[in-house]
Amino acid sequence: MIDEIAKKIAELKQEFAKTYSGNSHIQELIPISSSIEFPIDSNHLKHLHNFILKNPIYHNSYEQNFGGILTRVYEGDINEYWLNSIKHGSSCQPFYPTWIFSAYATTLLAKNFNFKELIDVGSGDGRIAYCAKFLGLQTISIEIDDALVDLQKTISSATKVGFNPICADAIEFDYSSLKLTHPVFFIGGLPQMGGDILASSIIEKISLSKIKDNAGIVFAGTHSKKQMSSNLGHGGWNSLIDKHGLRVTKTISLPTIWTFDQLVDTPYIYTEFI
Ligand SMILES: C[S@@+](CC[C@H](N)C(=O)[O-])C[C@H]1O[C@@H](n2cnc3c(N)ncnc32)[C@H](O)[C@@H]1O
Repeated sequence: MIDEIAKKIAELKQEFAKTYSGNSHIQELIPISSSIEFPIDSNHLKHLHNFILKNPIYHNSYEQNFGGILTRVYEGDINEYWLNSIKHGSSCQPFYPTWIFSAYATTLLAKNFNFKELIDVGSGDGRIAYCAKFLGLQTISIEIDDALVDLQKTISSATKVGFNPICADAIEFDYSSLKLTHPVFFIGGLPQMGGDILASSIIEKISLSKIKDNAGIVFAGTHSKKQMSSNLGHGGWNSLIDKHGLRVTKTISLPTIWTFDQLVDTPYIYTEFI
């Protein structure tokens, strides 16, 4: 079912990108109600809209129909947060969000894999942890930038979805202190932009502990051949996956803010230790 939903989200994005005539810095959409194409729990849909309504990066919204699917389009601006997020010495990637609808699909898949805890590493405004939390996982949302963590706290308290924002450098963080049982780590960075540093440091830490036997890692990759350079395959994560003996269990492609004007979307690559 998730494959089907992911495919439909990608189709919806293409239609949206073709017709979008605004000039907002960022834009995304969410269906207003459940449908045959998007058979989504209405309570979950409410949570998705609520995340945006309570998030000050969005300043405008309107309804738009795409082939019978009524959606709400949301427009916003992340410039101020983007600038803040690059000022940290050990920042591995600036703030750019996944679409909230994509964050939902990717965390729903993590839930279907039966993970119990989701660690959102480089969590931006916390949307991946937010979705995982209302889906019933335990969450930890790690973000280096204090302004983004304050934003997460605002959203967490306004939505009453306590997704556990923590202001920390994910490279230094002690994951063994979390007492994890069956965790999945979402790495918030692309391989060629510093996400590889984030991922390597976390994998090396996990490898030293018992968490490894039960842990999954999800990477956000790229389909863009230009950006992947020599490291083709698995969205640009090939060499890291080989080096650390990871097995790819699933890949789904979903729209993100940074692929809005592209024909390809962002692959989310699910892996586990062999
Ligand atoms: C591309 S954004 C991804 C945000 C979110 N995961 C999403 O998909 O919407 C990367 C985020 O990682 C954060 N970050 C970068 N290096 C970090 C580090 N060493 N520790 C914690 N967070 C970091 C940045 O501040 C930024 O918000």
